[in-house]
Amino acid sequence: MRSLLFVPADAPGKLDKALGCGADALIIDLEDSVAPQRKAAARAAAADFIARVPVDRPRPRLLVRINALASGLADADLDAVVLAGPDAIMLPKAEGGALVMHADAKLAAREALCGRPEGSIALVPIATETAHALFLAGTYLGASARLSALTWGAEDLAAELGAEANRDASGNFLDPYRLARALCLAAAAAAKVDAIDTVYVDFRNTDGLRRECEEARRDGFCGKMAIHPAQVAIINEVFTPSAEAIAKAQSVVDGFAASPGAGVIAIGGVMFDRPHLARAERLLARARTAGVPL
Ligand code: COA
Ligand code: MG
Repeated sequence: MRSLLFVPADAPGKLDKALGCGADALIIDLEDSVAPQRKAAARAAAADFIARVPVDRPRPRLLVRINALASGLADADLDAVVLAGPDAIMLPKAEGGALVMHADAKLAAREALCGRPEGSIALVPIATETAHALFLAGTYLGASARLSALTWGAEDLAAELGAEANRDASGNFLDPYRLARALCLAAAAAAKVDAIDTVYVDFRNTDGLRRECEEARRDGFCGKMAIHPAQVAIINEVFTPSAEAIAKAQSVVDGFAASPGAGVIAIGGVMFDRPHLARAERLLARARTAGVPL
């Protein structure tokens, strides 16, 4: 998933608009963008929307961000949406593998109750929203087969740390959030799932968004969350492997294929060994997923 667009669940106009904006996934939000008195209406709207998105046509993946498991609201969220069949549940304020196991059990019980195959709904934790979560980033591996990606957040973490800001005057993340970002990357790599970069809230600043997407791709993120439809095209463009990157990756794969058993090869005076081959294969897989003809 390159682009994942947040849509408040209690905004029917936005839900319909979001479907056609080219995002790889929609994150139907029941948490921070929905006021406490609107939670029940938002649950019903989320379930209704998921149930009426046609399944026989190309469509974005549908994620639901439920409220935190510790909030007392998550069970009602899951009760409302699981029957409608979302592709994944996003877990805010996640604290390590133990919380993922807890969410896995909650989903398994509900899948059984509504006759859905066990494990059909994936989990995407937001892994850095509490201070404690930072110390548990290494515990996701093996927690659940449902784990399909990890992402990170800087807004709740800033509130918890008592910070006045999470970015400097030029818009760059400050140290605690750079740490959170790096921990998300390492946590995802350790758990062998995709890392998804956090939102860029200055949604009219397209240059700033593009720069942040390019830095995220450079560092190993596979995609980025969006908060506005206008961000989707930029995210998709930056996270779709370019023709040049594909040609380079293909030459590495071809080079190894032409030298069976070789651990290291040279192409154009540059050395490539096994990690380079793995990276090239991953890039080609991402291009295929993005629908780029190879
Ligand atoms: N999904 C779908 N449609 C959206 C959208 C979103 N996330 N954000 C804006 N739109 C729609 C607007 O409804 C508007 O539609 P219209 O032209 O039919 O009226 C159009 O896109 C243009 O919107 P714009 O006027 O530029 O922005 P806005 O002031 O209406 O909305 C936000 C700004 C930030 C409130 C809005 O983008 C939003 O709700 N984002 C998601 C917030 C969220 O989920 N946060 C939680 C995670 S951090
Ligand atoms: Mg939040």
